[in-house]
Parts: sequence; C-alpha cells; structure tokens
Amino acid sequence: MKILGISGSLRRGSYNTSLLGAAARLLPGDVEFEPWGRLKEVPPYDEDDDTEEAPAAVAALREAIAGADAVLVATPEYNSSVPGQLKNAIDWASRPLATNPLRNKPVAVVGASTGAFGAVWSQAELRKVLAATGARVVEGEVAVGHAPTRFDEDGRLVDENLLEQLQEVVDGLVAEAAARCDTLHSPLASAA
Ligand SMILES: Cc1cc2nc3c(=O)[nH]c(=O)nc-3n(C[C@H](O)[C@H](O)[C@H](O)COP(=O)(O)O)c2cc1C
Repeated sequence: MKILGISGSLRRGSYNTSLLGAAARLLPGDVEFEPWGRLKEVPPYDEDDDTEEAPAAVAALREAIAGADAVLVATPEYNSSVPGQLKNAIDWASRPLATNPLRNKPVAVVGASTGAFGAVWSQAELRKVLAATGARVVEGEVAVGHAPTRFDEDGRLVDENLLEQLQEVVDGLVAEAAARCDTLHSPLASAA
C-alpha cells in the first residue's frame, strides 16, 4: 500500500512538512510513504492549458495521486483559508471531474500553524474542496497550534497528545485505503 503525502507549504523548515514526516513514522512498516515535492512547479490553473497534454508537473501530480492508495495532506492556513498553491494543485487534480484521480480516493487532512488554532479553518475548507472533487475525505483532525513549540530542532513532533491524534488519523486513513484495495481487487470488481 502506498500513501502520498502533500505538504501545502513550500518553505524550507515548514511545520506542515514536518507534520507529514511525523505521520510517515507512524505508518505500519509495510505501508510505503511517498512525499510529493513538486508543488511549486505546478503552474496557475488555466483551462486553456488543461488539454490532452497537461503541463509536466500537473501530469506528475495526477499520476502520483492515481498511483497511491490514499493521500495525506498537511496544510498551513493563509488568511483563514487554504494556501493558494495547494488549492491550485487540487483544482488541476480535479479535472476532468468525472475521472479525476482524487475521485473515491481516501484523503486525510491535518494541519499546523504558528497561531493558536492549528489551521482549523484551512483544514475545514480543504475538506470541503476535496469533497467537491469526489475524494473520500477521512474523518479526524490534527490541529497543531503554536507549531514552534510542538516540534524539536530536528522537526520531530514532540507533543504526546498530538502524536496520539495523528496516529488515529493515520490508522483511519490506512483502514480506508485497505478497504478500498479489497473492493478494487475483489472477484466481483474484476468481473465487472
Ligand atoms: C500569507 C500568510 C498568511 C497567514 N495566515 C495565517 C492564518 O490565517 N492563521 C494562522 O494560524 N496562521 C497564519 N499564518 C502563519 C502560518 O501559520 C505560519 O507561517 C506557518 O508556519 C505556516 O506553515 P509552514 O510552517 O508549514 O510553512 C500565515 C502566514 C502567511 C505567510
């Protein structure tokens, strides 16, 4: 099983990228984690450019999502909402709507911010956007507020409560992905 990790932050030293790393360490040993590091290369969405041959980074994003059994997104909050670069990438991934790679894909959302609330509004908005694409949004939230105090200097999440919450979200995502794998590979599915 493979989980694709997308951090909504582009900056070096991002708490959200560290949060993804923490989640990856909580996965069962037989689950592969693939961090997606090309968000900055995704061009602004332009329907004129959304043709048979998509821009390279867009094609790579769509392929990475299609090739994963589930997706874990860690998002910062910019002005109480989803950072533009992340929303933009999801807009690209959402097309064509009927066959987009997010459709029926289990996706979980977590988030970190330097403020008190841990990107809760951004996470809520992202869940709404993902639901609109047809993704199967997994329940559970991890809101890492006051992020500079929750990670050590190596970027490791050190708050026990948050680690427990993250473990729950990771377990829920893996369970959804496993259920989806079973459905896809059942004899009924292959006969259809
Ligand atoms: C343009 C901008 C807007 C921001 N707006 C919010 C906000 O609405 N709420 C919040 O808690 N933090 C806000 N922040 C602070 C971010 O939480 C902080 O930069 C955080 O470290 C971003 O996540 P990262 O470490 O993964 O890059 C904002 C930061 C930027 C650059």
